[in-house]
Amino acid sequence: MHAIEISGLRKSYGTFDAVSDITFSARPGRVVGLLGPNGAGKTTTLHILLGLASASAGTATVQGRAYAALDHPERVVGALLDAGGLHPGRSARDHLRVLAAAGGLDPRRVTEVLELVGLDRAGGRRVRTYSLGMRQRLGLAAALLGDPQVLVLDEPANGLDPAGMRWLRDVLRTFADDGGTVLLASHVLAEVTQVADDLVVVGQGRVIADGSLAELVGDQSLEDFYLELTAATEGVR
Ligand SMILES: Nc1ncnc2c1ncn2[C@@H]1O[C@H](COP(=O)(O)OP(=O)(O)OP(=O)(O)O)[C@@H](O)[C@H]1O
Ligand SMILES: [Mg+2]
Repeated sequence: MHAIEISGLRKSYGTFDAVSDITFSARPGRVVGLLGPNGAGKTTTLHILLGLASASAGTATVQGRAYAALDHPERVVGALLDAGGLHPGRSARDHLRVLAAAGGLDPRRVTEVLELVGLDRAGGRRVRTYSLGMRQRLGLAAALLGDPQVLVLDEPANGLDPAGMRWLRDVLRTFADDGGTVLLASHVLAEVTQVADDLVVVGQGRVIADGSLAELVGDQSLEDFYLELTAATEGVR
């Protein structure tokens, strides 16, 4: 059984298909990059996987089950969707405490995840005063709170500086090496190629290419690979 399995997924809004036909899987130990241009259907796919939107056709499962059918979803899947929705007057530590209480998680985990994302010193400050990169780190801390087996991240590198990128890569690498599965959506090739083992390239709601990064890029330069890819995936609908 794959940790994440998406099969024949379609999402229609009226006559428009935000996702036409997406099939791929992600297995433990791997960081899988879902790469595609703006409007390709990445966020829609993640929303369906996380039970935030319903599919018009097809299935999306985590460990063989729809998100809504998981017994303890917060212990199975951690998600970072966007850094919005944080209470500006609350500190990072309080924010995580509220989430831990809501999810029935051990409150001691709050200190652990703050350390994991490098916010242990800033954890007491109000989120209002956080930079974009710090908010992303807090979002990742929230995703890690339930000590999940699967991480689902939408554009997690947004706002991270080069050191932050390296840090993110290391956190995700360690998570996957410990047997976790990461699905990371991004429209930025350079970000994805820095962290992903496997790549699912989507364009206009369909999978264009799928395989290990090494396999897909082959002996081309990253630049040639990128040019070929964007030629195939161009055009926001
Ligand atoms: N609620 C909605 N109603 C109508 N159309 C929608 C809705 N949500 C998404 N779409 C459309 O579906 C398409 C896919 O959007 P989605 O957000 O999944 O793309 P994305 O790959 O995440 O893009 P980005 O890189 O910009 O984040 C877009 O054309 C978008 O306008
Ligand atoms: Mg998106």
